[in-house]
Amino acid sequence: MIVTTEQLFEHAYGNYAVGAYNINNLEQTVGLFRGNLGKSQSNDDPVDPATSAPFILQISRGARAYTDKRFLEAMIRTADEVFPEAIFAVHLDHGTEEACYDCIDSGFYSSVMIDASDKELAKNIEITRRVVDRAHEKGIVVEAELGRLGGVEEDVVGSVCLTDPGEAVEFVEKSGCDSLAVAIGTSHGAYKFAGSQSLHLDVLESIQQVLPEGFPLVMHGSSSVPKEWVDRINNAGGKLKGASGVDENQYLPAARLGVCKVNIDTDGRLVWCTIHRESFRDNPENFDLRPPGKLFMPAYAQYIAHKNRKLGSAGQLESVRKTIKPRPMVAPVSSAT
Ligand code: G3H
Ligand code: 13P
Ligand code: ZN
Repeated sequence: MIVTTEQLFEHAYGNYAVGAYNINNLEQTVGLFRGNLGKSQSNDDPVDPATSAPFILQISRGARAYTDKRFLEAMIRTADEVFPEAIFAVHLDHGTEEACYDCIDSGFYSSVMIDASDKELAKNIEITRRVVDRAHEKGIVVEAELGRLGGVEEDVVGSVCLTDPGEAVEFVEKSGCDSLAVAIGTSHGAYKFAGSQSLHLDVLESIQQVLPEGFPLVMHGSSSVPKEWVDRINNAGGKLKGASGVDENQYLPAARLGVCKVNIDTDGRLVWCTIHRESFRDNPENFDLRPPGKLFMPAYAQYIAHKNRKLGSAGQLESVRKTIKPRPMVAPVSSAT
């Protein structure tokens, strides 16, 4: 069931965070749905109530352009039929103004992110306000970003600038955004920390204290870049030197400080890379795409289940189901443009 993002946030606020996972292809999509239902091996496994979790499926502009955004929408609709027990929202990740309008007008998305965090405050507010006005007309909520993460996101190469709590108050009031992505020390990709740095939970706490009660916060760049997967990639011919990520044990403390959505993409790529490298290393005669795909889907499902345990969302699905309603608007798939 596709639901609104705000209902998921209301259920999670202060207790756990909802995992927001990026998808690009079919195997990732199947692994994601199975993982969130505790079905590690097959679509037909029974749902495991102790593991199953609500989730946010998110699509970047890069994913929309990779094949054609209509394939993604069709895949998600099909997954919704194949996995009728799933409860999830569909979200545009790091949208431009143009991409946000396209998603809002399509009627398919539960929420959009406008990312004008590379602009100065007044400009970020102005752009976000325009998107919010248009989204709210259609009952869609908007995530915005204030502050700057490090690392690379599509065409933006960032230098870190933590979110200022005072600016956050002004930004939320003037832009009307429904949730706020904050920069508290994370960055995108597999190389987040050079030494023993970690999240600035003190900054997060200050932001939570000054924003309206219950206002949902979002943490980008939250992959943990597990050593196990990095070592396996390197042992199978990869060259990921000095990769490091967020300590998974910081997800729950962040959730208690108002983080309702934790964005994870890189970790999924690492699982994909590990399985495919090992599979071709161990079966050099193979040229069929399905053997590694058959290994990847259960491995990804198990990884998602592990992640949800760390986020505290594992085991929440049945409780969410008692309060949730389907998202009101479902339109035909988007046009090509
Ligand atoms: O924050 C960026 C996400 O990891 C999406 O990555 O733009 O390469 O699809 P992408
Ligand atoms: P990671 O690169 O840490 O997975 O972050 C993903 C993200 O923030 C997507 O918006
Ligand atoms: Zn991000």
